[in-house]
Amino acid sequence: MSLVATTGRARPRARLTGVGTYVPTRVLTNAELEEMVDTSDEWIVSRTGIHERHIAADDEATTDLAAAAVRDLLERTGTDPSSVDLLVVATTTPDYVFPPCAPLVGTKSGMDYVAAYDTNAVCSGFMYGIAQATGMIESGIARRAVVVGAETLSRIIDWDDRATCVLFADGAGAVMLEADEGEQGSGVMGVELGSDGSSPSDLWVPAGGTRTPRTDDTPRAESCIQMNGREVFRFATRILVESSNRLLTEAGMTIDDVDLMVAHQANERILDHASERMGIAREKVVMNLDRYGNTSSASIPLALADARDRGMLEDGAVLLMVGFGAGLTWGSVLVRWEPRS
Ligand code: UT7
Repeated sequence: MSLVATTGRARPRARLTGVGTYVPTRVLTNAELEEMVDTSDEWIVSRTGIHERHIAADDEATTDLAAAAVRDLLERTGTDPSSVDLLVVATTTPDYVFPPCAPLVGTKSGMDYVAAYDTNAVCSGFMYGIAQATGMIESGIARRAVVVGAETLSRIIDWDDRATCVLFADGAGAVMLEADEGEQGSGVMGVELGSDGSSPSDLWVPAGGTRTPRTDDTPRAESCIQMNGREVFRFATRILVESSNRLLTEAGMTIDDVDLMVAHQANERILDHASERMGIAREKVVMNLDRYGNTSSASIPLALADARDRGMLEDGAVLLMVGFGAGLTWGSVLVRWEPRS
C-alpha cells in the first residue's frame, strides 16, 4: 500500500520481526579461483576466512536477488505484501543508474504502490537503511517497513585482480521493521552512523560516474572495485570497535548486555580483532563469510539469517549490528530480535 500518515502521534518503537534471504545457486570455490588468478586456497583462507561464495547467473541482477529475499521474508513472517508501506533497498550495484531498484522489487514482491527508494552507503548501506526505516516508524510516518541489502558485486569485480576477486560476491537479505507501542527497551534501541570522505580512492570504482564517465577507451579495471586493502583493514578494525562502543555508551549498556554481534562479513581477522578488543565471546560473534564472502550491504542480513538457522538467535536477544566500508562509511544498530509470534 502507499504511505500516508500524519505526524505527532504517540511515538511507536520499530520492532525487528523477521529476516529473509536469497543467494544465487552458483558457488565459486577457492579452488576455481586458483585456476583464474595467482592465488591459493591457503592464502585466501588464512588471510580472509573465505572458502566459497555465490555468484549470480547471467540473467540475474540485483532486483531479482532482492525480490527473492523479500519473498522469503514475507513467507516466513506470514505477511500480506500489501500491508508493507515502506521499502528501502540498500545497494551499490543497482540494475540501472535509474530507476532505483526498490520500486521494481516492490512490484516483483506484490507490494503495489509501496513507498520505495534505494540508499547507497556501500557496505554500511543496510545500517543506514535500518536507521531511515526506524526514523520513519518512530515518527509515525510508516507502520511496516522492509529493508533489503542486495548486491551483484560480481558485475563490478576485476577477475584479473587477485587482491579483490577472491573477496567480493553476490547475495541479498531483507528484514521487517514494524511499529509497536511496546515497553521501553524493545525494538531498535539506538544507532550510530558516520563517514569520512577524505580518501575515497581507498575503496572505490573509479569510472562510470559523472566525474569519470565510462567511454569506449575505459579499461575494464577502471569500472571495477579497487581497494587499498591494508588501509581499509586498519579503518575497519578501528571503527568496528569505536562505533560499537559509542553506541553502547549512548544507550547506557555494556558489551555484556549484547547477546549477538552481527557485523559486516569482510574478513574473519577483522571480526576476531573486534571480539578480542571489545571483550565479547567469539561464540557471540556471527561469522558466515566462509560460505558467502563479502556481499557488502547484504552481508549483515545474511549473517542474521544464518544465526537464526544455527539456533543462535533467541527471541528477545539483544543484537549489535555493525557495518563499515567505502566512503568511508560506518553504522551500528542496537536492536532486540522480536519475531512476530
Ligand atoms: O567491505 C568493505 C570493507 N573491506 C574490508 O574491510 C577489507 C579490509 N582488508 C582486508 O581484509 C585485507 O587487507 C585483505 C584480505 C584485502 C588483504 O590481506 P592483507 O593481509 O592486508 O594482505 P596485503 O594486501 O597486505 O597483501 C599481502 C601480500 C601481497 O604480496 P607482497 O606485496 O607482500 O609480495 C599481496 O600481493 O599478499 C598478496 N596478495 C595475495 N596473494 C595471494 C594479495 N591478494 C592475494 C591473493 N592471493 N588473493
